[in-house]
Amino acid sequence: MSSLEKRQNKHVFYTWTAQSAAKPIHISKADGACFFDEKGERWFDFESQVFNCNVGHGQSAIADAIAKQATQLACAHPAAVFETKARLGEKLAQITPGDLNRFFFCLSGSEAVENAYKMARLLTGRKKVIARRRSYHGASMGALSLTGDPRRWPLEPGLWGVLRAEDPYCYRCPFGADEKSCGLVCANHIEHIIEMEGADNIAAVFLEGVTGTNGGFIPPDGYWTRVREICDKYGILLVADEVFSGFGRTGSWFAVDHWNVVPDMITMAKGLTGGYAPMGAVAIRESLAERFDDETLWCGLTGYAHPISCAAADAAIDVYRDQGLIENSKARGAQLTQWLNHLKSRFNVIGDVRNLGLFGTIDFVKSRKDRTPLQPYPSSGDAASWTGRLRDGLRKRHVHIAQKWTHLFIAPPLCISESELDAGMALIEETLHELGEPN
Ligand SMILES: Cc1ncc(COP(=O)(O)O)c(C=O)c1O
Repeated sequence: MSSLEKRQNKHVFYTWTAQSAAKPIHISKADGACFFDEKGERWFDFESQVFNCNVGHGQSAIADAIAKQATQLACAHPAAVFETKARLGEKLAQITPGDLNRFFFCLSGSEAVENAYKMARLLTGRKKVIARRRSYHGASMGALSLTGDPRRWPLEPGLWGVLRAEDPYCYRCPFGADEKSCGLVCANHIEHIIEMEGADNIAAVFLEGVTGTNGGFIPPDGYWTRVREICDKYGILLVADEVFSGFGRTGSWFAVDHWNVVPDMITMAKGLTGGYAPMGAVAIRESLAERFDDETLWCGLTGYAHPISCAAADAAIDVYRDQGLIENSKARGAQLTQWLNHLKSRFNVIGDVRNLGLFGTIDFVKSRKDRTPLQPYPSSGDAASWTGRLRDGLRKRHVHIAQKWTHLFIAPPLCISESELDAGMALIEETLHELGEPN
């Protein structure tokens, strides 16, 4: 343990872990799709610093915009008018789908979800919401209550009235359907939940654009359209949580763009500033936003539309556009598909692979025949397990990557080059080869 790590550990917490179990990396600098540790050794950032640094490291235009804003106006009252805030609203309106033209700015994805939740209740006067079982929506109490995954368990009870819908987990369909028999049963059962709970009680349906670290589920074609139809039928708001899947991660600005669906709200964060400053936002359709022209919007926070965050997001959108990062995510995504299929053809421990743009998932199995997950849910495996040794092997090769339950997630910065993606994926292949198949 370095002396810096010792100093830090004495006074500062790590998140989501017993402090003694944290395995921090001392990062000294970062550039593009990589970062460097204290020994100057290079790591592939295949997790984009928690799916955050979509633009990649060392984007000087964003750093310069932050510095300029800090010098000019670093702190502003939430009701202040200033250039970067107005311009950011205009730019976001250009890239968000349909008439999602007004934005509520906050500081994180959790806050974006929290505020969308409040807006849905204010707009509909209804209290219950529907969210999926394998989902993550944030760590604040409202967002955590929507969250389906086990991070919610230790803090229950959360907010009342969250109803659970099953996931579009096609490889392990919760309804036992396959490609032929699918019939979008996972979308249709949302209508069943609504009928059983009373449409007049339900404010909104919250869905991740593409499920993040609960499994990288890419909904089948027709899913989003069907859910949109159901919400329209019952006057229920549809909220796409694109905190993870937004800003090019899946090869389009937002995941819903793949299916041409306009939700009533989009929650965003992470890639909004490329991780260069904390920021979240709720995008809301014009017709709904207009309601708050006369009614009070009971939402606010001291750091609302923080000038530094606005400057970072304003500059980040230019970087995505000027450097063609959304297009690169699509092109490198096609390369990633080839790599994933290649790995699946080589290793029986891989049951399924899936990706959309630069978000890829490897789903490990005990047996391909019956698709038994390699780990019992929700364990990610202890150090001695096959997945534990996989983690060690990847760390040894300096591949910084997320692994959860029986999944490995590949999500490098969108600026990654063809050769860098090849090099990182080759290290994953080498690790799998070294490990061999589990017993
Ligand atoms: C889909 C989704 N929503 C919300 C959040 C919460 O965002 P934050 O950690 O910025 O509060 C996350 C974070 O990973 C997320 O993936």
